[in-house]
Amino acid sequence: MLFNRNKSKAWDRLDSIYKHFKKTQMKDLFAADAKRGELYSEQLETMLVDYSKNRIDDNVLEALFALAEERGLKEKIADMFSGKKINATENRAVLHIALRNRANTPIYVDGRDVMPQINAVLEKMKDFSEAVRLGRFTGYTGKKLTNIVNIGIGGSDLGPFMACEALRHYWAKDINCYFISNIDGTACAEVLNKIDPETTLFIVASKTFTTIETLTNARTCRKWLIDALGEHAVAKHFIALSTNKEEVEKFGINPDNMFAFWDFVGGRYSMWSAIGMIIAIAIGFKNFERMLEGAFAMDEHFKNTAFEHNIPVILALIGVWYNNFYGVHRYGVIPYDQYLQYLPAYLQQLDMESNGKSVTLDNKFVDCATGPVLFGGAGTNVQHSFFQLLHQGTEIVPLDLIVPAISHNEIGAHHQILLANILAQGEALMRGKTEEEAAAELEAAGKSQAEINRLKKYKSFTGNRPTNTIILKKIDPFTLGMLVAMYEHKVFVQGVIWNIDSFDQFGVELGKKLALNILPELQGTAHNVAHDSSTAALIKHIKKIRK
Ligand code: F6P
Repeated sequence: MLFNRNKSKAWDRLDSIYKHFKKTQMKDLFAADAKRGELYSEQLETMLVDYSKNRIDDNVLEALFALAEERGLKEKIADMFSGKKINATENRAVLHIALRNRANTPIYVDGRDVMPQINAVLEKMKDFSEAVRLGRFTGYTGKKLTNIVNIGIGGSDLGPFMACEALRHYWAKDINCYFISNIDGTACAEVLNKIDPETTLFIVASKTFTTIETLTNARTCRKWLIDALGEHAVAKHFIALSTNKEEVEKFGINPDNMFAFWDFVGGRYSMWSAIGMIIAIAIGFKNFERMLEGAFAMDEHFKNTAFEHNIPVILALIGVWYNNFYGVHRYGVIPYDQYLQYLPAYLQQLDMESNGKSVTLDNKFVDCATGPVLFGGAGTNVQHSFFQLLHQGTEIVPLDLIVPAISHNEIGAHHQILLANILAQGEALMRGKTEEEAAAELEAAGKSQAEINRLKKYKSFTGNRPTNTIILKKIDPFTLGMLVAMYEHKVFVQGVIWNIDSFDQFGVELGKKLALNILPELQGTAHNVAHDSSTAALIKHIKKIRK
């Protein structure tokens, strides 16, 4: 279907609603309806999503749901879940949902049910992760493998890294996890300095097994291990997670030590697959399965719930409202939980690699803004860094504020202070403070009239700044699974509205290719390669310094 927003009825309706609605103040909407908070909240299992502090009302939401209908969202969701090749540019199905299909109902790709192969790999992961945790699979010298090093980048790093950190509370006491992703030798050196070859398992995680950063890091680690224990040790200290058996074998890893996944699993959607091996080793396979179950609960909700109560759909459409009508092309994710501190980095890839696109599925340049810039960091830390701009800057930045009601570390009043802060931030951003209110406060503090007049503008807040508040019960594997799946589906819905392919990533290729051209120049094996004058001068300068 051709998508042209100028000819879209639903889009036009939203445009005209926006013209009247744009000046509406959320605090007036709250004043007019005592039940607004309840009305614009949804709960799934142990997760509550309050989206009431947004610039929306029933009329806006109805028009957004109509846009989703018009874009065929219902059919697109069904297409994804049934294994249709919705990653059109790469002619692939998109089946991260199959990896956590706990109902085990068949899902067909090219006439073949994918579930048996998924179940077989899960079974193999279970056996291996338990063997490592119980010390049945040991290192070459018979010692227990207690240092687990994941070597991967992008989706082969960020998901496992974020999830391991989020679920640190569940780690086996004698296991330590490390992550090497950056090609910067420092990343390798800093990990290798901390570990002992006899007790280290290297997991080489790469969907393609051709990624230069991962293979270079893996070779360095392999050499380090061989220098210490000899060539024969490799089979007991290296495993691979990949779709590319041939390259795994070429690298020198025994195919018995390879855990497969498939081209219908996108890199940034792969933590549920064999790529999650380090998570399974760290928290145990039962907990890994709980994470899959949490994601499955969100999948079922997403697939079966009417748009009006569908959490990923609602969050996605509110994002579209800001992005395409308010012209706000950025958004922040602020987890108020130390264990979730890497969630924003993970979501950055999920969202920006998925929806940072400019060409529609009909092979035309888009005529509206697509994926926003996503950033974030852990509360309360970020309140003391970039929140100043969020409260008083000229940019509006919609936020997701996330917190568990119960901490794994209930020490004194820490968690109550944390909870008070997240709630206060949402309230402050929404309500703001008028000049009159600021003046009254200054007066109560005993300031002179001259002081009050001088300071009241600086001390006022425009408010009307949107937030979603997501309250979890506790950060456990099930809850994390739900949360991550919620964001995956949110990104998918936005991709459907913008009519783009959320599952390719051609945008990362050009820079990779040019780096391969420049490398031989830096190494002195190629000369006089054509560059712009800036790049040429920079190459010359670096070579001079490194001589
Ligand atoms: O550079 C982008 C990317 O292709 C990601 O999409 C992917 O997650 C990452 O590189 C790593 O790729 P691989 O798992 O094939 O090493």
